[in-house]
Amino acid sequence: MRAIILFDSKTTGGSTDKLIDSIGLELAKTGAYVEKARCKTTGDYSFVKDFDVVIMGAPIYYLLVSSQLLGALVQSNLKQYLAGKKVALFLTCGSPELMANLLYLPQLKMNLVNNTILAERIFAPDQTSDPTVIAQYVHELNAAYKK
Ligand SMILES: Cc1cc2nc3c(=O)[nH]c(=O)nc-3n(C[C@H](O)[C@H](O)[C@H](O)COP(=O)(O)O)c2cc1C
Repeated sequence: MRAIILFDSKTTGGSTDKLIDSIGLELAKTGAYVEKARCKTTGDYSFVKDFDVVIMGAPIYYLLVSSQLLGALVQSNLKQYLAGKKVALFLTCGSPELMANLLYLPQLKMNLVNNTILAERIFAPDQTSDPTVIAQYVHELNAAYKK
């Protein structure tokens, strides 16, 4: 599997940065080739065509998925290069999972109606550095990819 993690966060070295490094390492243990890229609303996402799986995630700030990832999905050529790709989603946020599933995940999923979603996960603040929770997410992603 060749996987790219497309992420955004307003902080550097924050919980999202640490989480994606852990996801990448866990996935690499399964033999996958993994790269990461911080999203920009105006970016060129043609490099996405070189990957089998696109993992996308970001924190929630003021009820919205962090703006550069959401902006990239709406304004850039990202959606064009996501056509037919398998994707996995994650969010980091402080809200309860139910609220995140109802209010936050749809902000991503409404842009991915034609994609197969291998795994999706809301990471609460204390879960972004929890090896067990991260391993579960990667296992679910990997199992769905192999099906
Ligand atoms: C300014 C700010 C606004 C936030 N707004 C929300 C929110 O509306 N809903 C929520 O569930 N979490 C909210 N959070 C919590 C963050 O989503 C959570 O702490 C996340 O892990 C931060 O990621 P980061 O460390 O990469 O910046 C907010 C955090 C900050 C700093």
